[in-house]
Amino acid sequence: MKFSFENSTRIHFGEGQISQISKDIPKDKKVLVLYGGGSIKANGVYDQVAAALAEHQWGEFSGIEANPQYDTLMQAVEKVRAEGFDYLLAVGGGSVVDGTKFVSVAVGYEGEAWDILAKGKTSPTALPVSCVLTLPATGSESNAGSVVSRGNSKLFFGDPRVRPIFAVLDPKVTLSLSPRQVANGVVDAFVHVMEQYLTFDHNAKVQDRFSEGLLLTLIEEGPIALANPDDMAVRSNVMWAATMALNGLIGAGVPQDWTTHMIGHELTGHYGIDHARSLSIMLPAVMQARRKQKGAKIVQLGQRVFGIHSGSHDERIDATIAALVEFFQLMQVPTSLTEVELGSDAIAKVLASLAEHGRQGMSEHGDVGQDELAQMLELAR
Ligand code: NZQ
Ligand code: ZN
Repeated sequence: MKFSFENSTRIHFGEGQISQISKDIPKDKKVLVLYGGGSIKANGVYDQVAAALAEHQWGEFSGIEANPQYDTLMQAVEKVRAEGFDYLLAVGGGSVVDGTKFVSVAVGYEGEAWDILAKGKTSPTALPVSCVLTLPATGSESNAGSVVSRGNSKLFFGDPRVRPIFAVLDPKVTLSLSPRQVANGVVDAFVHVMEQYLTFDHNAKVQDRFSEGLLLTLIEEGPIALANPDDMAVRSNVMWAATMALNGLIGAGVPQDWTTHMIGHELTGHYGIDHARSLSIMLPAVMQARRKQKGAKIVQLGQRVFGIHSGSHDERIDATIAALVEFFQLMQVPTSLTEVELGSDAIAKVLASLAEHGRQGMSEHGDVGQDELAQMLELAR
Protein backbone atom coordinates (compact mmCIF):
# COMPACT_ATOMS: atom_id res chain seq x y z
CA MET A 1 0.00 0.00 0.00
CA LYS A 2 1.03 3.63 -0.37
CA PHE A 3 2.94 5.00 2.59
CA SER A 4 5.04 7.91 3.82
CA PHE A 5 7.59 6.91 6.41
CA GLU A 6 9.52 9.04 8.83
CA ASN A 7 11.03 8.28 12.20
CA SER A 8 12.79 11.35 13.48
CA THR A 9 13.83 10.07 16.92
CA ARG A 10 17.61 10.16 17.39
CA ILE A 11 18.69 6.99 19.15
CA HIS A 12 21.69 6.99 21.51
CA PHE A 13 22.32 3.30 22.02
CA GLY A 14 24.80 1.68 24.37
CA GLU A 15 26.44 1.82 27.75
CA GLY A 16 27.10 5.30 29.14
CA GLN A 17 24.97 7.07 26.58
CA ILE A 18 22.89 8.91 29.19
CA SER A 19 25.61 11.57 29.15
CA GLN A 20 24.44 12.53 25.63
CA ILE A 21 21.45 14.35 27.05
CA SER A 22 23.64 17.23 28.24
CA LYS A 23 24.35 18.27 24.65
CA ASP A 24 21.08 17.17 23.06
CA ILE A 25 18.83 19.37 25.20
CA PRO A 26 19.38 23.07 24.46
CA LYS A 27 20.85 24.89 27.46
CA ASP A 28 18.17 27.56 27.43
CA LYS A 29 15.42 25.02 28.10
CA LYS A 30 13.85 24.58 31.53
CA VAL A 31 13.64 20.80 31.82
CA LEU A 32 11.11 18.75 33.78
CA VAL A 33 12.36 15.21 34.45
CA LEU A 34 9.41 12.82 34.86
CA TYR A 35 9.76 9.36 36.37
CA GLY A 36 7.92 6.52 38.06
CA GLY A 37 7.94 4.93 41.47
CA GLY A 38 11.64 5.16 42.19
CA SER A 39 13.43 2.37 40.31
CA ILE A 40 15.69 5.02 38.77
CA LYS A 41 16.84 6.11 42.23
CA ALA A 42 17.75 2.54 43.18
CA ASN A 43 19.69 1.65 40.01
CA GLY A 44 21.74 4.83 39.57
CA VAL A 45 19.92 6.12 36.48
CA TYR A 46 18.65 9.18 38.36
CA ASP A 47 22.21 10.13 39.34
CA GLN A 48 23.43 9.75 35.77
CA VAL A 49 20.61 11.97 34.51
CA ALA A 50 21.27 14.55 37.22
CA ALA A 51 24.97 14.62 36.30
CA ALA A 52 24.15 15.07 32.62
CA LEU A 53 21.80 17.96 33.45
CA ALA A 54 24.32 19.75 35.69
CA GLU A 55 24.39 22.79 33.41
CA HIS A 56 20.63 22.91 32.83
CA GLN A 57 17.86 24.43 34.85
CA TRP A 58 15.64 21.49 35.79
CA GLY A 59 13.02 20.11 38.15
CA GLU A 60 11.38 16.75 38.68
CA PHE A 61 8.00 15.03 38.90
CA SER A 62 7.81 11.50 40.30
CA GLY A 63 5.09 8.94 40.91
CA ILE A 64 3.90 8.11 37.40
CA GLU A 65 2.48 4.63 37.92
CA ALA A 66 2.48 1.58 35.64
CA ASN A 67 -0.45 2.12 33.25
CA PRO A 68 -0.20 5.87 33.88
CA GLN A 69 -3.23 7.47 35.45
CA TYR A 70 -4.83 10.63 34.12
CA ASP A 71 -5.17 12.26 37.55
CA THR A 72 -1.47 11.82 38.31
CA LEU A 73 -0.49 13.19 34.92
CA MET A 74 -2.73 16.23 35.42
CA GLN A 75 -0.70 17.03 38.55
CA ALA A 76 2.38 17.12 36.34
CA VAL A 77 0.48 19.36 33.90
CA GLU A 78 -0.25 21.77 36.77
CA LYS A 79 3.42 21.82 37.75
CA VAL A 80 4.53 22.57 34.20
CA ARG A 81 2.00 25.39 33.89
CA ALA A 82 2.87 26.87 37.29
CA GLU A 83 6.66 26.70 36.93
CA GLY A 84 7.07 27.28 33.21
CA PHE A 85 8.94 24.16 32.09
CA ASP A 86 9.41 24.01 28.35
CA TYR A 87 11.10 20.62 27.79
CA LEU A 88 10.01 17.21 29.12
CA LEU A 89 12.46 14.37 29.76
CA ALA A 90 10.85 11.01 30.57
CA VAL A 91 13.07 8.59 32.49
CA GLY A 92 11.51 5.15 32.85
CA GLY A 93 9.50 2.48 31.08
CA GLY A 94 6.67 2.80 28.60
CA SER A 95 4.30 4.14 31.24
CA VAL A 96 6.53 7.10 32.08
CA VAL A 97 7.20 7.82 28.39
CA ASP A 98 3.49 7.58 27.53
CA GLY A 99 2.52 9.72 30.51
CA THR A 100 5.06 12.36 29.54
CA LYS A 101 3.70 12.44 25.98
CA PHE A 102 0.26 13.12 27.39
CA VAL A 103 1.58 15.93 29.63
CA SER A 104 3.21 17.43 26.53
CA VAL A 105 -0.11 17.98 24.79
CA ALA A 106 -2.31 18.48 27.87
CA VAL A 107 -0.40 21.56 29.08
CA GLY A 108 -1.74 23.79 26.31
CA TYR A 109 -5.18 22.21 26.06
CA GLU A 110 -8.07 24.31 27.28
CA GLY A 111 -10.90 22.29 28.79
CA GLU A 112 -10.91 18.65 29.85
CA ALA A 113 -7.67 17.13 28.56
CA TRP A 114 -9.17 13.62 28.79
CA ASP A 115 -10.97 14.53 25.55
CA ILE A 116 -7.62 14.14 23.74
CA LEU A 117 -7.98 10.42 24.52
CA ALA A 118 -11.73 9.94 24.72
CA LYS A 119 -12.80 12.16 21.81
CA GLY A 120 -9.68 12.33 19.68
CA LYS A 121 -9.27 16.09 20.24
CA THR A 122 -6.00 17.74 19.21
CA SER A 123 -4.15 20.17 21.43
CA PRO A 124 -2.93 23.43 19.90
CA THR A 125 0.51 22.92 21.47
CA ALA A 126 2.96 20.15 22.32
CA LEU A 127 6.07 20.53 24.47
CA PRO A 128 9.21 18.76 23.23
CA VAL A 129 9.65 15.27 24.67
CA SER A 130 12.77 13.10 24.94
CA CYS A 131 13.42 10.01 27.01
CA VAL A 132 15.83 7.71 28.78
CA LEU A 133 14.25 4.29 28.40
CA THR A 134 14.70 1.80 31.25
CA LEU A 135 12.44 -1.04 30.13
CA PRO A 136 12.48 -2.42 26.57
CA ALA A 137 8.91 -3.32 25.60
CA THR A 138 6.52 -0.76 24.21
CA GLY A 139 8.42 1.05 21.46
CA SER A 140 7.08 4.29 22.95
CA GLU A 141 10.65 5.65 22.99
CA SER A 142 10.50 6.34 19.26
CA ASN A 143 6.85 6.27 18.28
CA ALA A 144 4.06 8.84 18.33
CA GLY A 145 1.60 6.84 20.48
CA SER A 146 0.62 6.94 24.13
CA VAL A 147 -1.78 4.96 26.32
CA VAL A 148 -3.33 6.58 29.42
CA SER A 149 -5.76 5.17 31.98
CA ARG A 150 -8.57 6.77 33.94
CA GLY A 151 -10.44 4.44 36.25
CA ASN A 152 -11.22 1.35 34.18
CA SER A 153 -10.76 3.10 30.84
CA LYS A 154 -7.44 2.63 29.10
CA LEU A 155 -7.28 4.74 25.95
CA PHE A 156 -4.79 5.59 23.22
CA PHE A 157 -3.86 8.78 21.39
CA GLY A 158 -1.35 9.40 18.65
CA ASP A 159 0.26 12.73 17.73
CA PRO A 160 3.43 13.12 15.64
CA ARG A 161 4.55 16.02 17.85
CA VAL A 162 5.03 13.76 20.89
CA ARG A 163 7.43 11.40 19.14
CA PRO A 164 10.58 11.73 21.29
CA ILE A 165 13.27 13.99 19.83
CA PHE A 166 15.88 11.61 21.17
CA ALA A 167 15.86 8.37 23.15
CA VAL A 168 18.72 6.96 25.19
CA LEU A 169 18.79 3.17 25.07
CA ASP A 170 21.43 1.92 27.50
CA PRO A 171 20.92 -1.84 27.89
CA LYS A 172 22.89 -1.75 31.14
CA VAL A 173 20.06 0.09 32.91
CA THR A 174 17.78 -2.87 32.19
CA LEU A 175 19.86 -5.15 34.45
CA SER A 176 17.82 -4.07 37.47
CA LEU A 177 14.53 -5.26 35.95
CA SER A 178 12.74 -8.13 37.68
CA PRO A 179 12.42 -11.38 35.68
CA ARG A 180 8.71 -10.61 35.36
CA GLN A 181 9.37 -7.23 33.73
CA VAL A 182 12.01 -8.73 31.43
CA ALA A 183 9.54 -11.38 30.30
CA ASN A 184 6.76 -8.82 29.90
CA GLY A 185 8.96 -6.67 27.71
CA VAL A 186 9.94 -9.51 25.38
CA VAL A 187 6.33 -10.64 25.06
CA ASP A 188 4.95 -7.14 24.44
CA ALA A 189 7.50 -6.51 21.68
CA PHE A 190 6.78 -9.94 20.20
CA VAL A 191 3.05 -9.21 20.04
CA HIS A 192 3.68 -5.78 18.48
CA VAL A 193 5.41 -7.51 15.59
CA MET A 194 2.62 -10.07 15.33
CA GLU A 195 -0.12 -7.43 15.14
CA GLN A 196 1.59 -5.83 12.14
CA TYR A 197 2.59 -9.12 10.49
CA LEU A 198 -0.11 -11.69 11.03
CA THR A 199 -2.76 -10.55 8.58
CA PHE A 200 -2.95 -11.90 5.02
CA ASP A 201 -0.44 -12.50 2.27
CA HIS A 202 0.26 -9.10 0.66
CA ASN A 203 3.67 -9.71 -0.86
CA ALA A 204 5.41 -6.98 1.15
CA LYS A 205 8.60 -8.99 1.48
CA VAL A 206 10.73 -6.40 3.25
CA GLN A 207 8.19 -5.82 6.02
CA ASP A 208 7.57 -9.58 6.38
CA ARG A 209 11.23 -10.50 6.61
CA PHE A 210 12.10 -7.67 9.00
CA SER A 211 9.21 -8.90 11.16
CA GLU A 212 10.36 -12.51 11.02
CA GLY A 213 13.88 -11.39 11.96
CA LEU A 214 12.56 -9.58 15.02
CA LEU A 215 10.39 -12.55 16.05
CA LEU A 216 13.34 -14.94 15.68
CA THR A 217 15.52 -12.62 17.74
CA LEU A 218 12.97 -12.38 20.55
CA ILE A 219 12.39 -16.15 20.56
CA GLU A 220 16.13 -16.76 20.72
CA GLU A 221 17.08 -14.08 23.25
CA GLY A 222 13.97 -13.91 25.45
CA PRO A 223 14.54 -17.17 27.32
CA ILE A 224 18.29 -16.44 27.63
CA ALA A 225 17.50 -13.05 29.14
CA LEU A 226 15.66 -14.94 31.89
CA ALA A 227 18.27 -17.70 32.29
CA ASN A 228 21.39 -15.48 32.11
CA PRO A 229 20.18 -12.13 33.38
CA ASP A 230 23.66 -10.55 33.27
CA ASP A 231 24.29 -11.21 29.59
CA MET A 232 24.67 -7.72 28.14
CA ALA A 233 24.69 -8.87 24.51
CA VAL A 234 21.31 -10.48 25.04
CA ARG A 235 19.97 -7.37 26.77
CA SER A 236 21.19 -5.28 23.86
CA ASN A 237 19.47 -7.47 21.28
CA VAL A 238 16.22 -7.45 23.23
CA MET A 239 16.32 -3.68 23.65
CA TRP A 240 16.91 -2.91 19.99
CA ALA A 241 14.35 -5.50 18.87
CA ALA A 242 11.68 -3.91 21.09
CA THR A 243 12.36 -0.47 19.62
CA MET A 244 12.30 -1.75 16.04
CA ALA A 245 9.09 -3.67 16.73
CA LEU A 246 7.00 -0.54 17.06
CA ASN A 247 8.80 2.40 15.47
CA GLY A 248 6.71 2.43 12.29
CA LEU A 249 9.16 0.54 10.07
CA ILE A 250 7.61 -2.92 9.84
CA GLY A 251 4.08 -1.52 9.83
CA ALA A 252 4.61 0.88 6.93
CA GLY A 253 2.42 0.02 3.95
CA VAL A 254 0.95 -3.19 5.34
CA PRO A 255 -2.43 -4.06 6.87
CA GLN A 256 -2.44 -4.34 10.66
CA ASP A 257 -4.68 -5.98 13.23
CA TRP A 258 -4.61 -4.67 16.81
CA THR A 259 -7.46 -6.84 18.11
CA THR A 260 -5.25 -8.54 20.72
CA HIS A 261 -4.12 -5.19 22.12
CA MET A 262 -7.63 -3.75 22.22
CA ILE A 263 -8.98 -6.72 24.19
CA GLY A 264 -5.84 -6.70 26.33
CA HIS A 265 -6.32 -3.05 27.30
CA GLU A 266 -9.76 -3.93 28.71
CA LEU A 267 -8.28 -6.78 30.76
CA THR A 268 -5.71 -4.37 32.19
CA GLY A 269 -8.25 -1.60 32.73
CA HIS A 270 -10.66 -3.81 34.69
CA TYR A 271 -8.40 -6.37 36.33
CA GLY A 272 -4.91 -4.83 36.43
CA ILE A 273 -3.40 -7.65 34.37
CA ASP A 274 0.11 -6.57 33.24
CA HIS A 275 -0.09 -5.26 29.66
CA ALA A 276 2.09 -8.03 28.17
CA ARG A 277 0.23 -10.74 30.09
CA SER A 278 -3.10 -9.54 28.75
CA LEU A 279 -1.60 -10.07 25.28
CA SER A 280 -0.15 -13.54 25.93
CA ILE A 281 -3.60 -14.59 27.15
CA MET A 282 -5.40 -13.25 24.09
CA LEU A 283 -3.12 -13.76 21.08
CA PRO A 284 -3.40 -17.58 20.80
CA ALA A 285 -7.19 -17.26 21.06
CA VAL A 286 -7.33 -14.52 18.43
CA MET A 287 -5.25 -16.69 16.09
CA GLN A 288 -7.52 -19.66 16.72
CA ALA A 289 -10.67 -17.64 16.07
CA ARG A 290 -9.21 -16.10 12.89
CA ARG A 291 -7.45 -19.20 11.58
CA LYS A 292 -9.39 -19.01 8.33
CA GLN A 293 -8.66 -15.37 7.53
CA LYS A 294 -5.05 -15.54 8.79
CA GLY A 295 -4.34 -19.10 7.67
CA ALA A 296 -1.75 -18.36 4.96
CA LYS A 297 0.21 -16.06 7.24
CA ILE A 298 0.06 -18.43 10.21
CA VAL A 299 1.53 -21.17 8.01
CA GLN A 300 4.27 -18.76 6.84
CA LEU A 301 5.01 -17.88 10.49
CA GLY A 302 5.17 -21.57 11.34
CA GLN A 303 7.56 -22.30 8.52
CA ARG A 304 9.91 -19.31 8.73
CA VAL A 305 9.91 -18.65 12.47
CA PHE A 306 8.99 -21.86 14.27
CA GLY A 307 10.46 -24.34 11.74
CA ILE A 308 7.21 -26.16 11.01
CA HIS A 309 7.67 -27.63 7.54
CA SER A 310 5.26 -30.55 7.31
CA GLY A 311 1.62 -31.46 7.80
CA SER A 312 -1.62 -30.36 6.19
CA HIS A 313 -2.61 -26.68 6.17
CA ASP A 314 -4.74 -27.18 9.28
CA GLU A 315 -2.12 -29.23 11.08
CA ARG A 316 0.47 -26.54 10.45
CA ILE A 317 -1.83 -23.88 11.88
CA ASP A 318 -2.39 -26.00 15.00
CA ALA A 319 1.33 -26.67 15.35
CA THR A 320 2.18 -22.96 14.95
CA ILE A 321 -0.31 -21.87 17.60
CA ALA A 322 1.04 -24.61 19.89
CA ALA A 323 4.61 -23.40 19.29
CA LEU A 324 3.58 -19.86 20.17
CA VAL A 325 1.95 -21.02 23.40
CA GLU A 326 5.09 -22.99 24.22
CA PHE A 327 7.24 -19.87 23.72
CA PHE A 328 4.96 -17.84 25.99
CA GLN A 329 5.13 -20.58 28.62
CA LEU A 330 8.92 -20.54 28.38
CA MET A 331 8.70 -16.80 29.04
CA GLN A 332 6.59 -17.61 32.11
CA VAL A 333 3.56 -15.57 31.08
CA PRO A 334 -0.04 -16.84 31.26
CA THR A 335 -1.84 -18.07 28.13
CA SER A 336 -5.38 -18.39 29.49
CA LEU A 337 -7.87 -16.38 31.53
CA THR A 338 -8.10 -19.25 34.00
CA GLU A 339 -4.44 -18.81 34.90
CA VAL A 340 -5.21 -15.28 36.09
CA GLU A 341 -8.39 -16.45 37.78
CA LEU A 342 -10.85 -14.82 35.41
CA GLY A 343 -14.04 -16.45 34.07
CA SER A 344 -17.51 -15.67 32.73
CA ASP A 345 -18.00 -12.48 34.73
CA ALA A 346 -14.81 -11.02 33.33
CA ILE A 347 -15.72 -12.04 29.80
CA ALA A 348 -19.07 -10.25 30.10
CA LYS A 349 -17.44 -7.13 31.54
CA VAL A 350 -14.72 -6.98 28.88
CA LEU A 351 -17.28 -7.42 26.11
CA ALA A 352 -19.42 -4.60 27.50
CA SER A 353 -16.38 -2.36 27.75
CA LEU A 354 -15.25 -3.12 24.20
CA ALA A 355 -18.71 -2.12 22.98
CA GLU A 356 -18.64 1.03 25.08
CA HIS A 357 -15.25 1.99 23.65
CA GLY A 358 -16.54 1.49 20.12
CA ARG A 359 -14.27 -1.45 19.28
CA GLN A 360 -16.42 -2.76 16.47
CA GLY A 361 -14.97 -3.73 13.14
CA MET A 362 -11.44 -4.52 14.27
CA SER A 363 -8.98 -6.72 12.34
CA GLU A 364 -7.20 -6.25 9.02
CA HIS A 365 -10.57 -6.74 7.31
CA GLY A 366 -12.53 -4.50 9.69
CA ASP A 367 -14.96 -7.31 10.34
CA VAL A 368 -14.57 -8.56 13.92
CA GLY A 369 -17.92 -8.03 15.60
CA GLN A 370 -19.21 -8.56 19.11
CA ASP A 371 -19.96 -12.27 18.54
CA GLU A 372 -16.45 -12.98 17.40
CA LEU A 373 -14.98 -11.03 20.32
CA ALA A 374 -17.06 -13.25 22.60
CA GLN A 375 -15.71 -16.32 20.81
CA MET A 376 -12.12 -15.10 21.26
CA LEU A 377 -12.63 -14.53 24.97
CA GLU A 378 -14.20 -17.99 25.34
CA LEU A 379 -11.26 -19.53 23.50
CA ALA A 380 -8.92 -17.70 25.89
CA ARG A 381 -10.53 -19.26 28.95
O1 NZQ B 1 7.89 3.08 38.33
P1 NZQ B 1 9.24 2.50 38.48
O2 NZQ B 1 9.75 2.53 39.86
O3 NZQ B 1 10.22 3.08 37.48
O4 NZQ B 1 9.11 0.91 38.16
C1 NZQ B 1 8.73 0.40 36.90
C2 NZQ B 1 7.33 -0.18 36.91
O5 NZQ B 1 6.94 -0.60 38.19
C3 NZQ B 1 9.57 -0.81 36.62
N1 NZQ B 1 10.85 -0.49 35.94
C4 NZQ B 1 11.03 0.18 34.78
N2 NZQ B 1 12.33 0.19 34.45
C5 NZQ B 1 12.99 -0.47 35.44
C6 NZQ B 1 12.05 -0.90 36.39
N3 NZQ B 1 12.40 -1.60 37.49
C7 NZQ B 1 13.71 -1.87 37.66
N4 NZQ B 1 14.67 -1.51 36.77
C8 NZQ B 1 14.35 -0.82 35.65
N5 NZQ B 1 15.31 -0.51 34.75
O6 NZQ B 1 8.81 -1.62 35.77
C9 NZQ B 1 7.43 -1.44 36.08
C10 NZQ B 1 6.62 -1.40 34.81
O7 NZQ B 1 6.94 -0.25 34.05
P2 NZQ B 1 6.02 0.21 32.84
O8 NZQ B 1 6.60 1.49 32.32
O9 NZQ B 1 4.59 0.22 33.23
O10 NZQ B 1 6.21 -0.97 31.77
P3 NZQ B 1 6.14 -0.96 30.22
O11 NZQ B 1 7.36 -0.37 29.62
O12 NZQ B 1 5.81 -2.35 29.86
O13 NZQ B 1 4.94 0.01 29.83
C11 NZQ B 1 3.61 -0.43 29.85
C12 NZQ B 1 2.67 0.69 29.41
O14 NZQ B 1 2.89 1.05 28.03
C13 NZQ B 1 1.66 0.96 27.29
C14 NZQ B 1 0.93 -0.12 28.04
O15 NZQ B 1 -0.43 -0.12 27.74
C15 NZQ B 1 1.22 0.24 29.49
O16 NZQ B 1 0.39 1.29 29.91
N6 NZQ B 1 1.93 0.73 25.88
C16 NZQ B 1 2.38 1.76 25.14
C17 NZQ B 1 2.58 1.66 23.76
C18 NZQ B 1 3.05 2.80 22.96
N7 NZQ B 1 3.17 3.99 23.52
O17 NZQ B 1 3.32 2.66 21.77
C19 NZQ B 1 2.31 0.42 23.05
C20 NZQ B 1 2.13 -0.76 23.93
O18 NZQ B 1 1.36 -1.72 23.25
C21 NZQ B 1 1.50 -0.49 25.26
O19 NZQ B 1 0.08 -0.44 25.12
ZN1 ZN C 1 1.86 -3.59 23.65
